[in-house]
Amino acid sequence: METSLGPHRQQPGAAAIGAALEAIAVYKSLPLGRERIDILKGVSLRIQHGELVAIIGPSGSGKSTLLGIIAGLDRPTQGQVLVDGVDITRASEGQLASIRNQKIGMVFQAFNLIPTLTAQENVEVPLYVGKHPGSPASRAQELLTLVGLGHRLGNKPNQLSGGEQQRVAVARALATNPAIIIMDEPTGNLDRANSENVLRMVRDLRASTGTTFIIATHDPTVAATCDRAITIVDGLIAGDATSARSAS
Ligand SMILES: Nc1ncnc2c1ncn2[C@@H]1O[C@H](COP(=O)(O)OP(=O)(O)OP(=O)(O)O)[C@@H](O)[C@H]1O
Ligand SMILES: [Mg+2]
Repeated sequence: METSLGPHRQQPGAAAIGAALEAIAVYKSLPLGRERIDILKGVSLRIQHGELVAIIGPSGSGKSTLLGIIAGLDRPTQGQVLVDGVDITRASEGQLASIRNQKIGMVFQAFNLIPTLTAQENVEVPLYVGKHPGSPASRAQELLTLVGLGHRLGNKPNQLSGGEQQRVAVARALATNPAIIIMDEPTGNLDRANSENVLRMVRDLRASTGTTFIIATHDPTVAATCDRAITIVDGLIAGDATSARSAS
């Protein structure tokens, strides 16, 4: 896929070892009635620029919670998250909003589209926040066409199927050409053909722009596409396997 925007190069002078994203001893607990529930119990991980990483593990193990924290949408109870070396757990709300808009694209498990806006307008929204090159309308149309929704630009979410809404959410996450794209079950509602389309876009984007992808998934095909699979069980990392393929 050709993208109109440039590659994600490291800042000149940035240490070559600088990770795209780093979590250091991340804990998350929440009150539940009179108790506290420990959802994440000390998760540390380091993801390099351009890596394509699957987060796998049983339902309820903490994948979505972890993704929300590394995307800066939720704060950890304890621990740090560094995006390009910047500690987002210490950032103000304003700084966080700007880092998210400039650097991170997110596909939520429940899509989170704006119900009163059309498919095209939903994809345009992040382009109206901050500075982004090009025309929001044509970028939105280009992306929606890539996910096979060129004929549904004017539909609102309640006029779209679950799989179509998911594809709008994928297009929205790609819109600003962020350095890091975090996806929570991006193919959970897609048929094989559309899952393959989304995966092809992921691979092409990674190859053409060096985008880093972190994808929580129960789909073995998605996990098999990734370079690396991190397994979360009961709030802890239980495995971190690099596929032989990624070495080639
Ligand atoms: N706001 C909350 N209050 C209390 N418990 C919560 C809250 N949000 C999540 N949990 C609990 O935290 C655990 C982890 O949830 P999370 O959504 O991160 O799991 P997951 O690995 O993404 O699961 P799935 O594969 O089903 O999407 C679950 O047991 C869930 O019930
Ligand atoms: Mg989840």
